[in-house]
Amino acid sequence: MDRRITAVSAIETLDSRGNPTVRVSVRLDCGVVSSASVPSGASTGAHEAVELRDGDARRYGGKGVRKAVDNVNTVIARAIVGHDVERQVELDRLLVELDGTPDKSRLGANAMLGVSMAVARAAAEAAGMPLYWYLGGATARRLPMPMMNVLNGGKHADSGLAFQEFMIVPVGAPRFSEALRYGVETFRAIGAALRARGESIAVGDEGGFAPHLPGNEAACALIVEAIEAAGFVPGRDIALALDPAATSFQDEGAYLPDRAEGPRKNSDEMIEIYRDWIMKYPIVSIEDGLAEDDWTGFSRMTSLLGDRIQIVGDDIYVTNTEFIRRGIVERCSNAALIKLNQIGTVTETIEAIDMCRRAGWRYVTSHRSGETEDTFLADFTVAMGGGQIKAGSLCRGERIAKYNRLLEIERELGAEALFDNPLD
Ligand code: PGA
Ligand code: ZN
Repeated sequence: MDRRITAVSAIETLDSRGNPTVRVSVRLDCGVVSSASVPSGASTGAHEAVELRDGDARRYGGKGVRKAVDNVNTVIARAIVGHDVERQVELDRLLVELDGTPDKSRLGANAMLGVSMAVARAAAEAAGMPLYWYLGGATARRLPMPMMNVLNGGKHADSGLAFQEFMIVPVGAPRFSEALRYGVETFRAIGAALRARGESIAVGDEGGFAPHLPGNEAACALIVEAIEAAGFVPGRDIALALDPAATSFQDEGAYLPDRAEGPRKNSDEMIEIYRDWIMKYPIVSIEDGLAEDDWTGFSRMTSLLGDRIQIVGDDIYVTNTEFIRRGIVERCSNAALIKLNQIGTVTETIEAIDMCRRAGWRYVTSHRSGETEDTFLADFTVAMGGGQIKAGSLCRGERIAKYNRLLEIERELGAEALFDNPLD
């Protein structure tokens, strides 16, 4: 049965940083109305699809999204009203054609993604299916291993830590809900350890603590101590993952990590640091250990460390098949980070995932540092079955919303739910 789109509209709402974002509603002739909100990054890759901002300094410091909202309410609405909502690929292609630019700068990737997500959600609702089922099929039942970002640095906090994300990965947990509990209990232990040292327990953009530690290595050591204090075995129960987001501490071709790691470093010296830390700490995954334009460095890092840990490319690929293809040819990593708003439509995001699968790469679906209460990512992650998610720390509602949705899905799948350690 056809389910036609009868109306599409958008409003300007706020993300978790209080910056304007786009929320889109799609109405169908069967009466269903579904909405979706678009996230926003802070340490964005140079080649991400363009997030259209008004640039009018009199409103929100230029960050208003009235133009993007307007594009949904006029150009996009005119083009897709009357279409069958289940034609996701066709509708996404229509959006891309309507925009007509290589970087989605005319309509704005924020306008386009809001529509793309709301279309998927409306179609699922009209079909009477949960979103993960609608997008992933009746056999989608893998709950992801959460990479929980417990210490925030880089552009996500003023902690002074150069590395952006220090994550815990409950590799020994028997199911998702237990993985979450391991995470919460360790997060609390980190808080207690910080308090005992007289350190700040304020949190950064993704909900991880943002203390003033001596350096990145001290952050790793603190987490390992907290894992033990919480009663878990580092490495066996809970491992570490890093997202240094190295582009943010690169300057004129050199890397400037914290003072504790010494002065300016080249790629090989950064790889040496990582190699050393892999021996000392139970690190299973490093994302953006080098800068987005350091393709040869990524390649060397993968040939040296790729058989021992997961090497993830985020800013270097920006969920774009053009860059992922090059990464596969040049063996730059063995995994990619996947963010819907880096590319701008649901269909293109799935194409990026398909390319990873064909290359035998892993992929990690991810939130942004600027998020909303929207839980699309949780369903999308289960639908894609990749087995890994980045959704932030164990506080802040916009992060917890994704975890809570995954708990619901786990409950709904019951005994059929799968959960294992993809990093084995
Ligand atoms: P962003 O950070 O959302 O600020 O880009 C997330 C990441 O780098 O993984
Ligand atoms: Zn990243």
